[in-house]
Amino acid sequence: TKKVRTEFVCSDCGGTTAKWAGQCPHCKAWNTLQEFTVKEGVAARYGSVNERRGGFVDTTGSLQDLSEVSTAEAPRIQTGLSEFDRVMGGGLVQGGVALIGGDPGIGKSTLLLQVMARLVAAGIRAVYVSGEESATQIALRAQRLQIDPHGLQLMSEIELEHIEAVLKDKKPEFVVVDSIQTLFSGQLESAPGSVSQVRECAARLTRLAKTLGTPLIFVGHVTKDGALAGPRILEHIVDTVLYFEGDTHSNFRLVRAFKNRFGAVNELGVFAMTDHGLRGVTNPSAIFLSEYKANVPGATVLVTQEGTRPLLVEIQALVDQTHLPTPRRLSVGVDAQRLSMLLAVLHRHAGVGCFDQDVFINAVGGVKITETAADLAVLAAIVSSIRNKPLPEGLVVFGEVGLAGEIRPAPRGQERLREAAKLGFSRAIIPRANAPRAPIEGLTVHAVDRLSDALDVLMS
Ligand code: TYD
Ligand code: MG
Repeated sequence: TKKVRTEFVCSDCGGTTAKWAGQCPHCKAWNTLQEFTVKEGVAARYGSVNERRGGFVDTTGSLQDLSEVSTAEAPRIQTGLSEFDRVMGGGLVQGGVALIGGDPGIGKSTLLLQVMARLVAAGIRAVYVSGEESATQIALRAQRLQIDPHGLQLMSEIELEHIEAVLKDKKPEFVVVDSIQTLFSGQLESAPGSVSQVRECAARLTRLAKTLGTPLIFVGHVTKDGALAGPRILEHIVDTVLYFEGDTHSNFRLVRAFKNRFGAVNELGVFAMTDHGLRGVTNPSAIFLSEYKANVPGATVLVTQEGTRPLLVEIQALVDQTHLPTPRRLSVGVDAQRLSMLLAVLHRHAGVGCFDQDVFINAVGGVKITETAADLAVLAAIVSSIRNKPLPEGLVVFGEVGLAGEIRPAPRGQERLREAAKLGFSRAIIPRANAPRAPIEGLTVHAVDRLSDALDVLMS
């Protein structure tokens, strides 16, 4: 008879305890422990918490001198979908495991089917494991994508043990699992989609992918609060976490790398959803600039650096007299907390107050700006809106604003300036420390030290 044991797993960090507690003893989160039952044998094979969380690489069990370790770069398998290869850090890596998350219907299955078709066309043996859709549904999608279905291997299966057996037997060179939440292991008693099942299935498939040297991509569903279900657990297990973001109402789809052991974090892939699937956008800056050519008050162009690529994004501000006791501060695509801080700096160091004004900020195109180099652009847009005065034509702005009213440098300033010049912008207001050593053709650069200096240039 098989022995059965009870264990409690934290839904945040994946740590386990034998007894229930209100607080996770590992990560100190509250009310995250969930009970699950383990049949004998499973626990023994998944000894330490570290191992359970994944991250296992080729283990030899013996000591090795660091100098003897091969440093040859792992060869990349390029899919030819260049925006996808870009977010992955240059292509797929042997044994590399990625998780791709996003809202339902945003295009996860579409993207992966396209990736797979490219690989199959290049002679790579690939398997699509689907627990989500029927074979017919996938065949219909392939038809819509105008993909040649020959050689695309499909497995409609949700039981982990069966999937493992097939992968060990067939040894494919690329695997997609759509989605990780639909799988279950017969060795656990909890339902598919529960934390323990997701963790177990992801960890075991990850281990198998590493052993076989196969690139593996999981599709993951997103919970209501926007986190990948079983958030921390999966993030720790996989090498790369990609996330679809942006405006679901537009045709554009942004895929961001949140974590990447094999590439730059925050790297952004930009796609357009067409009748025949996702198409990479080669000049993404254009879509983040609004359609208006004429200059309007409250609009400014920021040069942001997402991952390894500079992007030009229009930042819009609307400042309007409030009717509320507490004026509203609303921002889309820009951190709201930071906005409050910037407004305080604007008042204290440039004498522009907004306490009786509602302030709305929007980054055009649904892109999320994660870096502080957006500060100066946000304030420039706000001041332009307050004064009802358009900013000079052909202007770009970037730079972090400090609490003392100083303008702090942004990383990769030269690249940002070159990108702006390339796209025909003629003026830039930037931090002093980012001033180019040699002039950039077609670009007049105003390098400033303080917020007040920047506003003088803007409003002159
Ligand atoms: P899908 O890949 O099924 O989303 P997910 O797997 O993230 O849930 O995408 C489905 C959406 O994409 C659906 O609304 C239809 C649209 N779509 C297109 O516009 N063009 C296409 O060629 C395909 C296949 C889907
Ligand atoms: Mg899907």
